[in-house]
Amino acid sequence: MPAPLTRRAACRRLAAFLAGSPLLPAQLASRAEHDRIPALDEMANVFEFEPVFRAKVLRAAYDFCSLGVDAEFTLRRNREAFGWVRLIPRAVADVSSLDLSTELFGQKLDFPILVAPTAGHQQFHPEGELETRRGASAARTIMMVSSGASYPIDKIAASAEGPLWFQLYARDTPEGTQERVENAQAAGCRVVALTIDVQYHSHRERLLHNRHLATPVPGASAAREQARSQRRKPEPPPPPYGLRRQNPDLTWGILQALRVYTKVPLLLKGVLTAEDARLAVEHGADGIVVSNHGGRYLDYAPSSLEVLPEIEEAVGGRIPVLLDGGIRRGTDILKALALGAKAVLVGRPPLWGLGAYGAAGVRRVLEILQTELALAMGHTGRRDIASIDRSLVAVDFP
Ligand code: FNR
Repeated sequence: MPAPLTRRAACRRLAAFLAGSPLLPAQLASRAEHDRIPALDEMANVFEFEPVFRAKVLRAAYDFCSLGVDAEFTLRRNREAFGWVRLIPRAVADVSSLDLSTELFGQKLDFPILVAPTAGHQQFHPEGELETRRGASAARTIMMVSSGASYPIDKIAASAEGPLWFQLYARDTPEGTQERVENAQAAGCRVVALTIDVQYHSHRERLLHNRHLATPVPGASAAREQARSQRRKPEPPPPPYGLRRQNPDLTWGILQALRVYTKVPLLLKGVLTAEDARLAVEHGADGIVVSNHGGRYLDYAPSSLEVLPEIEEAVGGRIPVLLDGGIRRGTDILKALALGAKAVLVGRPPLWGLGAYGAAGVRRVLEILQTELALAMGHTGRRDIASIDRSLVAVDFP
């Protein structure tokens, strides 16, 4: 008669059975497959960088990049607007060679695509804007450097070859603003764009929730930062309510003041109405960027694409009109060009590339957009940028 099985012996037998069974490795393997971070060359489109970016950066950094103001209505509308525009293809056309180059402010661009100014790239990669610039230059794309960059403009300029543009936030004093512009010009920036849509710091609810998390330390990797934040005494959270001034006192006179020492073309970024576009031309702007700041300042502002036609009409070709907001596909770029933009800027996608794969990711994001634009041009019978016109689109804006 076999000895009765003790509880301990039963557990041991069960453990031995599991160790020898194919069930457990199969479980773990499927989990590994699930958690696998795809390699860069698996990325089929720009959207696919976003979940990899999310997995690799701190939560506060992810939220800072993704957020819109308040209910994020305008953030969503920026994307939705592209669905209201249909492309009208012309089938019989010789598109055996495609030329995506264009000219802006006397400068040749290989593609009508720029990297939009976005602040604080060290949250996404230890080398921040230096790495973004390397990726943009490798993709033969001009980067517009933010006034809120994590590195000084001369260091960013020196990190790679190729032209740079500069985005300006007016500072508290005229001298401070002048110093910023002069530094940018000394570093070789060929355009300065003043952002005009930031009267007060906006109410960013995702950041208000995150104020209880540790603030990201620029340059720290996620793992190092997490270890550090556990040791660090939590800082008092920023006040969640109340107004914080940014540029509440801008007047049209600023263009004249800037003109005194700005030797390069001067753009206004953040125009959303025909009337402001007309005033920008009258006050001597060399170009405008139709933009709602990626839905980050005024919620329920219109999408930039839906106001582009009226702005283009008001400007009447006197100065170039550029656009940003929601550009994620080559067909989006084609639609914006057909509605009158001379070039587009992309904000979040290069940051997804940066946080996910560094400079190589930035480069790939831009190259995907370039290739998709070439394909869209080919399939609509347009061999160069000059041949893209209004007849290419049918518009159903609500
Ligand atoms: C921005 N944007 C921005 N604009 C600007 O003029 N100066 C700045 O410092 C910043 N900073 C910034 C940070 C982050 C994380 C984002 C996402 C955006 C706005 C930016 O230039 C551009 O207008 C939008 O990002 C365009 O929309 P998409 O392409 O992100 O949808």
